[in-house]
Amino acid sequence: MGEVSADSVTLELLREARETVKGSPLGVVQTPLVLWGQTALPPLAGGPCNVHIKLENMQKTGSFKIRGVANQFARRPKGGRFVTMSAGNYGRAFAYACKHYGSQGKVVMPETAPLSRSALIQSFGVEVERVPTSCLMDAVNRCVQNDHMTFLHSYDDLDLIAGHASLGLELLEVVPEPDVVVVCCGGGGLLAGVAAAVRLSGCSRTRIYGVEPEGACTMYQSFLEERPVGMETKSIASGLAPPSAGALPYQLCRRHVDQMVLVSDEEIKAAVSVLYRSGLVVEPSGAAAFAAVLAGDRIPDVAGRSVVCILSGGNMGKDELANFPD
Ligand SMILES: Cc1ncc(COP(=O)(O)O)c(C=O)c1O
Repeated sequence: MGEVSADSVTLELLREARETVKGSPLGVVQTPLVLWGQTALPPLAGGPCNVHIKLENMQKTGSFKIRGVANQFARRPKGGRFVTMSAGNYGRAFAYACKHYGSQGKVVMPETAPLSRSALIQSFGVEVERVPTSCLMDAVNRCVQNDHMTFLHSYDDLDLIAGHASLGLELLEVVPEPDVVVVCCGGGGLLAGVAAAVRLSGCSRTRIYGVEPEGACTMYQSFLEERPVGMETKSIASGLAPPSAGALPYQLCRRHVDQMVLVSDEEIKAAVSVLYRSGLVVEPSGAAAFAAVLAGDRIPDVAGRSVVCILSGGNMGKDELANFPD
């Protein structure tokens, strides 16, 4: 990440990125922030609290990733040639942006990713290279060195994080000083952006929680070891299971996040089911923060508080849904 550090992330930078995201030709949606009690969700156990859910599952390309991508592309030369590494929502948003901007793009994917995912990305005119997981970075480096492509990172990138922060600034317009904000975490780009936006906007008393699956707790472990760490990860929430926490996300999360908490895959599955029964299609990664709220004992002291919980994505097929409990 070169010279970039948490100090580079100022409120001014985030506000500028927000304007870029808002005005982006990619059509980023200002998603609804809905009060739990005004949905078909069952009453929350443990007493009344004002839980708001932010519906990024209704975002363009089906997840929040388009926010960061909009800011990344706006700040790179038009008609550039880009390569990334993703099997998931970032790849989808990246491909959408490449098509829109007429950029040549390539997504390097693990060969274990579903073929339907490659086909979707290729349908935007973007090339896909499938390689063994251990060769992902080598393939990207080859594209950078031999084909002179620019590497766009899917979570460890200042412009991307600043774009994701638009979600934080947006939610403060509806709930100006939330007591609690709950955000899921994979590499940490989303959590870092939202936490920085909330904190730098002056919400010093808001408690900010990051949520990871037990089997993919890189940021949790990084907090313990006081440095960004990697590990072998496994979770039903594949978007939350990259092999390491990002360096810049780690710095920002250390500065702005109060606590990392963990949820099990079973809890994530239960959350997906509860949301589905209430009419909301949310993929496992997108439901992890909600799972932490549902668990009742993960986020302390919520009775009577205003809580914002982000549902970060909804890209899940009918076949996947069949694996969840009724
Ligand atoms: C739906 C969803 N939520 C959350 C994340 C995690 O984002 P980050 O890597 O920025 O922490 C991802 C990543 O792909 C995702 O697809």
